[in-house]
Amino acid sequence: MFQLKGKVALITGGSRGIGRAIALELAKNGVDIVVNYVRHRRDAEQTVAAIEAHGVRCLAVKANVAKEENVERMFAEIREQYPQLDILVSNAASGVLKPAMELTARHWDWAMDINARALLSLSQHTVPMMKNGGRILAVSSLGAVRAVPNYTVVGSSKAALESLVRHLAVELGPEGITVNTISAGVVDTDALKKFPNRDEIISESLRRTPLGRLTTPEDVADLALFLCSDLSSMISGQTLVVDGGYAIQG
Ligand SMILES: NC(=O)c1ccc[n+]([C@@H]2O[C@H](COP(=O)([O-])OP(=O)(O)OC[C@H]3O[C@@H](n4cnc5c(N)ncnc54)[C@H](OP(=O)(O)O)[C@@H]3O)[C@@H](O)[C@H]2O)c1
Repeated sequence: MFQLKGKVALITGGSRGIGRAIALELAKNGVDIVVNYVRHRRDAEQTVAAIEAHGVRCLAVKANVAKEENVERMFAEIREQYPQLDILVSNAASGVLKPAMELTARHWDWAMDINARALLSLSQHTVPMMKNGGRILAVSSLGAVRAVPNYTVVGSSKAALESLVRHLAVELGPEGITVNTISAGVVDTDALKKFPNRDEIISESLRRTPLGRLTTPEDVADLALFLCSDLSSMISGQTLVVDGGYAIQG
């Protein structure tokens, strides 16, 4: 058990997939949770029930993290329940999967706003609520540093996200806030169903991963827990990869 009891965490996109696993892992370790989602209320309600079963408080807030007025309303709701926040996990993501030649300005803005700019806006609202230092995590993928077919706009937004993490880490370090990126390997969540070549992605990942299996939401959540704990207090501005060794293969 880590010493996290009484802390409060906001996890964007915390209702499903990787975000849900992170929310549950933190809840198991005594953290009160705010789960953000944008469309699927039932998933959010089920996640709230699973989190509350661990004896912590949980609030679900619907907000599109790409929309400033939504984010402002979400933080107003959070402040009504919690005077402070200790952990921010910027996990929600979206984006069209198309070759670069088919992308429009709208596709670009959509991915950039949800996947990259949201971390800036969420941090600007969260940092004033962090009273005794804090932890900020962003969830990224290998597409930030490698060219992946159809992943142009999401990969570019993840590259911006990882750069933003480094800039925030430098600026917020003096306030005792660490900022890190978790870069995850292929995880079989709903997001993967949107890839036209899902089966190929999974088989290729299995073939190339030295540890011989896909990354699970729980693998990502374990790293998130470590990065929220005192054990990681001197780690900041880093991209930590959890992928069973996939990315290091030549
Ligand atoms: N799956 C992978 O292979 C993989 C690999 C590496 C990194 N990642 C990263 O891991 C993170 C989570 O991915 P996932 O696979 O768990 O996705 P997922 O299963 O599709 O879940 C997405 C979550 O984000 C929420 N969301 C989407 N757009 C939002 C918005 N504009 N505002 C607020 N919430 C929004 C969704 O809410 P609703 O249910 O209400 O729509 C849902 O809770 C993403 O950053 C992704 O890029 C995934």
